[in-house]
Amino acid sequence: MSTELGTRAWVEVDASALRENLRRIAHRVGPEARLIPMVKADAYGLGVLQAVDALEPMDPWGFGVAAVDEGLALRRHGVRRPVLVLSPAPREALEAAVAAELEVSVSDAGTLDRLVALAEGGASPAFHLEVDTGMGRAGIPSAEAEHWIPLLERARAAGVRWAGCYTHLHSADESAGSVHEQWRRFEGALGVLRARETGVLVHVLNSAGCMRCPEYGCDAVRPGIFLYGGGVGADQPRPESVAALRARVVHVRDAAPGTPLGYGSTHRAVGHERWATVCIGYGDGLPRGLGNRGEALVRGRRAAIVGRISMDVTVVDITDVPDVAVGDVVTFIGNDGDQRITVDEVAEMVGTISYEVLTGLTPRVQRIWVHDSTR
Ligand SMILES: Cc1ncc(COP(=O)(O)O)c(C=O)c1O
Repeated sequence: MSTELGTRAWVEVDASALRENLRRIAHRVGPEARLIPMVKADAYGLGVLQAVDALEPMDPWGFGVAAVDEGLALRRHGVRRPVLVLSPAPREALEAAVAAELEVSVSDAGTLDRLVALAEGGASPAFHLEVDTGMGRAGIPSAEAEHWIPLLERARAAGVRWAGCYTHLHSADESAGSVHEQWRRFEGALGVLRARETGVLVHVLNSAGCMRCPEYGCDAVRPGIFLYGGGVGADQPRPESVAALRARVVHVRDAAPGTPLGYGSTHRAVGHERWATVCIGYGDGLPRGLGNRGEALVRGRRAAIVGRISMDVTVVDITDVPDVAVGDVVTFIGNDGDQRITVDEVAEMVGTISYEVLTGLTPRVQRIWVHDSTR
């Protein structure tokens, strides 16, 4: 495993696996639906600039982010494709967004008014109208679509481009029923707004939606977590593993029976135990809840995490793993030999979701993109 000398904790990101996961999404929804890979939150914690470079050859329609700053960073990096800012943006950020030709989300009349003012000042704003069909956090209520007809007309007359219309699914990872219900509301709003006739880009599906209900692929889809190796429901196909979280053993010791370990002395050696101290902790984003519960892979074997996880180090019980030495690599997420710990396994153990585990990795963890895997 090639890492720079002294790298203490790192996440290896497999660019080919990322592309393979997007390919699977594309295959699932069919050729009519263009791809808008979601690269918000630093591409779910894995490195946004490397992610867009890795995905660029797949000719996506554009990229999805949540914040105007994230969109501006893509433009600075040289991304020329459409960049869609999907969360409602603060009004103050709209001018910069429009100047950088980001396509912004509209959920309320005030935002549209601001875009009209910018158009009247000579800018060329473009927006995607979000329709709320049950998520509740943003979007115009689907039942109020009719009120928006004159607002959209006024915006059009002022030179504001209505580029897209979308909704966001809330439970596609759990069942198809809620997706059908949300689709029904969305379709109603599309009809009232005559969105299809206007030629706007219509998009609905997140990763789970793509896998469970590909029939709603429309003009484009917005997959996120599946690309980065997170599962989208127990009954759904698993993505290729993309991210491997690893760190080095920095200390090995024998512990006599009864030896206490870590903050709160929550573990004591039961018999003669051997412990390896690994230089990764919750300050790196390793969930503290894995203390005394989780496992890591050492020399291709599972080893229990013992004691509480500290900010900077974690101890694993290597009593049954022969020959462990300082400098060995320990895997907390990913493969080692025949063994694998998935990001979903980690998330479940600490009562959260893969999204939070990945985006929780801190800047102290080096992101190492691997481009030469054989895929
Ligand atoms: C509006 C929107 N679309 C698409 C996605 C991608 O969702 P997922 O990562 O579940 O595929 C997100 C992420 O939360 C989102 O907020």
